[in-house]
Formats: sequence, C-alpha cells, structure tokens
Amino acid sequence: MHPDPHTVLPVSADWWRSAVFYQIYVRSFADGNGDGVGDLTGIRSRLSYLADLGVDALWITPFYPSPMADHGYDVADPRDVEPVFGDLAEFDALLTDAHRLGVRVTIDLVPNHSSHDHEWFQAALTAAPGSPERARYLFREGRGPDGSEPPNNWPSVFGGPAWTRVPDGQWYLHIFAPEQPDLNFANPEVVADLEETMRFWLDRGVDGFRIDVAHGMAKPEGLPDMVPMEDTGLLADHGPGDLRFDQDGVHVVHRRIRAVLDEYPGTMAVGEVWVSDDARLAQYLREDELQLAFNFKLLTADWTVSDLRDAVTDSLAAVSGSPAPACWVLSNHDRPRHVTRYGGGELGTRRAKAAALLQLALPGAAYIYNGDELGMPDVDLPDEALQDPIWERSGHTERGRDACRIPMPWSGSEPSYGFSSQADTWLPMPAGWAALTPEAQAADPASIQSLYRSALTLRASSPAFAGDGLDWVPAPDGCLAFRRPGGLVCLVNLSGAAIPLPEGQVLLASADLGDGTLPHDSAVWLQA
Ligand code: NOJ
Repeated sequence: MHPDPHTVLPVSADWWRSAVFYQIYVRSFADGNGDGVGDLTGIRSRLSYLADLGVDALWITPFYPSPMADHGYDVADPRDVEPVFGDLAEFDALLTDAHRLGVRVTIDLVPNHSSHDHEWFQAALTAAPGSPERARYLFREGRGPDGSEPPNNWPSVFGGPAWTRVPDGQWYLHIFAPEQPDLNFANPEVVADLEETMRFWLDRGVDGFRIDVAHGMAKPEGLPDMVPMEDTGLLADHGPGDLRFDQDGVHVVHRRIRAVLDEYPGTMAVGEVWVSDDARLAQYLREDELQLAFNFKLLTADWTVSDLRDAVTDSLAAVSGSPAPACWVLSNHDRPRHVTRYGGGELGTRRAKAAALLQLALPGAAYIYNGDELGMPDVDLPDEALQDPIWERSGHTERGRDACRIPMPWSGSEPSYGFSSQADTWLPMPAGWAALTPEAQAADPASIQSLYRSALTLRASSPAFAGDGLDWVPAPDGCLAFRRPGGLVCLVNLSGAAIPLPEGQVLLASADLGDGTLPHDSAVWLQA
C-alpha cells in the first residue's frame, strides 16, 4: 500500500499554468547519508526550506538506477530508485511530505534513450541482428565495403559520431553518449513501456513529468544523412536539416503521453524542446500534447535591453496560438548559471536579482534552478575534477556542464557548507561561499534569497499578477517596462544610470530605492 499522496493537495486541473517550479539537480541539492552525493533523504530534509521559499512544485532530475555515464540521464531501470539516491520507500515518504507542505512533485521522464545497462540493451547485445531484442533500439549495418563506416553522418551531441559498432559488425545509434542508446519509437513495445513507466509513478502520486529531449524520440524513415555540419554542440538550436530532432512523428508519441496524463486529473508534463521556430514549437503545445514547453530564450539572452525584450516578445509569440502559457527559465543544469552569464561577482548578482523580478513578473510558469535563489555562480573546476562526459568525448576541448552543477551550500563557512556531513563532495565546493548559504542570507533583508521569498509571496497573493499577457509600456532609454492586466508594472533599468521611479505603489525592488530612484541594473515591481 502506498501512502495516499492526494490527501492534502486539491485536484486542480491547471495549477501549473502560473506555478513556480523549483528544479532539484538531485546530486547537488542536499546529501542525507554523508557520501558526498545529494539524495532523496537530503531533499526530504529540506522540504520545509522549499515550502518557506514559496515554490509550488519541484522538478527532481533523474534518480533512477543508472551507471551515471550522464549522471542519471542514462537510465538502467526507469521504475526504481538508484541506491546512491535512496529507495522507493524514501521516494514515497518524500512525496507524502511534500504534498503535506503543499508542494507538488514532478520528476524526469527520459524516453529518448536508455542506459546501455538497461536489461533491454544488454539483451540486444547478445541477440542476433534482426532480432526483436535489437528492434527496440536502432541497430543498422554500416556503410563501406566491409560495413566499417557508420550508417549515416549524424554526430553525437556529446562529440564524435552518433554510432557505435558492436562485435558482430552492426552499429547502434546514440544521439548522446554511447552509454545512452536511442530507443526505437516506431516499435509499439517501446511506447507501451513508456506508458508503463508513467503509470508506475503516477500511481504513486507524482504530479507530472519533465520530459527529456522531448523533440527527440522519432527518427526519419531510413535514417538518411543530415545536412553536413560541425557537431552542433550540446543542446544547441537544432535547425531544419538536423534530422536527429523535431521529426513530425514525435507528435504521435506526445499524444500517447498526454492520453496517459489525462487519466490522472491534475497532472502535467513540461517538455525540453530545443526548437527555435515558433510555429514548430507551438505544435508540441497542441490540446492533446504537452501542457508546457520550456522557453529557453531567457536562458540564452544576454543582459541587454534588446535581448531581454526580444526573449519575452518571442516567447509570448511562440505560445500565442496554443493553449499553453509561456514557461520561463533563467538557468538549468545544462547551461552556465545566469549570475556568471551576467558578469559574475557583485555585478552578476545585482543583475540576477533584477532578472528574478523580470522572470517572476512574466505571465505563465517559471522554473527556478536550485541555487538561483542564492545567487550561485558557476565554478571553474580543475581538469581532474571534471565529471561531465562531454569533457572526455570532446578530447578535452569542451569542459562540459560541471561548473553549473556544484553542490548547494546551506550553512557554515567551510566546504561542504552543510551540504553533506563530509567535506568532500562529488564536485568540489570552493572556499569563500559562507555568504551564499541560506543561513547567512536569511537574516539579510537585502539578500537575493530574501528577494526571492518576497517575490514568491507577492506573486502568490497579490491581485496585481492576475490575467494573462502583458503590454509594453513607455520607459526611459535603456529600460524595459511592461504592465500585466492586474496592474503589476515591472520596470528593469539597464540604462547605465539611476532613473526616477514612475508613479505607483512600490511592491518590491531588487535594490535600495533610498533616494526615490531605481539604480542601474535593478528592477522594481509597482502596482499602478
Ligand atoms: C537533456 C538533459 O537536460 C541533459 O542533462 C542530458 O545530458 C541530455 N538531455 C541527455 O539525456
């Protein structure tokens, strides 16, 4: 018998439309068992922190059994828990506790590929070419006289070819690492297994899924060569001609996913859809497909008025013809953190505070990456500390994503700052982070963490945030300002100088407004 995780949270069909989600990169959030790696017990121990911060829902990155070739995005069994992270009983307890605190829980679904350790792939390796075991993946004969050339010219996102040869001479496709063989979604068994995984977690009470590589899964008939190109790099903007992604057949899979979700009222899915063409992105958001798709335009925008304004305008345009709201992201576990993107140090933090008010004023859903609320920057790690497969696969030319995955500091003045009971953590934590911890920031009303808490409280309670959409309103040169239907005005100043505050009651500001002006690189919320 599972605990009943529905006892506290009311079923609300579209709670996600304006929800604030908090992304937990499980290895790096909190370590409950002292091995230097984050885990479910650690998350559970910090749930009251998250409820107090004011988030509506969690997205927990993969915690399933995995050999960790891609830190959990290589799933060996999608219906169990990796022992490093805990067990199913601990997951159930986490879910129950989160719901009791009014926090919904969404988890990662990784349909595009499995781990090479998955029992299906192990069976495929020992089975013969043409067997049903191989038909769950994409095995093909090679090209050239002796089949020693890969079946097509596709590159892996992580560097090198997207094909690896097995001893009997066939090749298998892996858009990511060789340890992540792509599943064959033209095989009904594969789709049925995905549905089984969804039901497994939905029956336990999860509130939804974040779908990994949601623009992957379907592959073109015959796997033809793609437009010759350099390796497009990790999660780059996969344009037309990149046949690895955004094939029309992917929508069949999304309809199946949605049909399962619709059996569980109040559940949802957000897709990781790296598709920049607005019309094509909108296809993923049709009535019978995803409820949300991450919008990565803010995540890739520079700290300039034109970039930020375009990111907002384009993102709203992308969803305007669909039933979905926009879904805003400033940072995640795949990209440099925005404090660092915005210049780092005191400058980066000042801009990150302003960006928080911008993000949280926008209509739609918002995702906070763990540590955003602390102003965590990226960390330059020494070569020997790097863990991301990109580092090895690129022949040590690309450092990968470890810099944005450093464990969270919680308290104290030395590594691991309350993250773990031991000082050594899976990625090393730097000296000098005492001021970043929630312990240090909670007492400071001017800290970025205090700003997030105030912003989330207001967002949840003030009628100024009512209504969809926004209107741009006149603002001094070098500034942007918009008004929400409920009366909220958000003004961001990138002009290089302080500007006079406009009319209206100040709800919140990212910097001190002592002399009645809004300083450079800061933002204010007004009720106008
Ligand atoms: C996207 C995930 O966010 C990333 O971390 C992962 O490496 C790839 N998908 C492959 O699963």
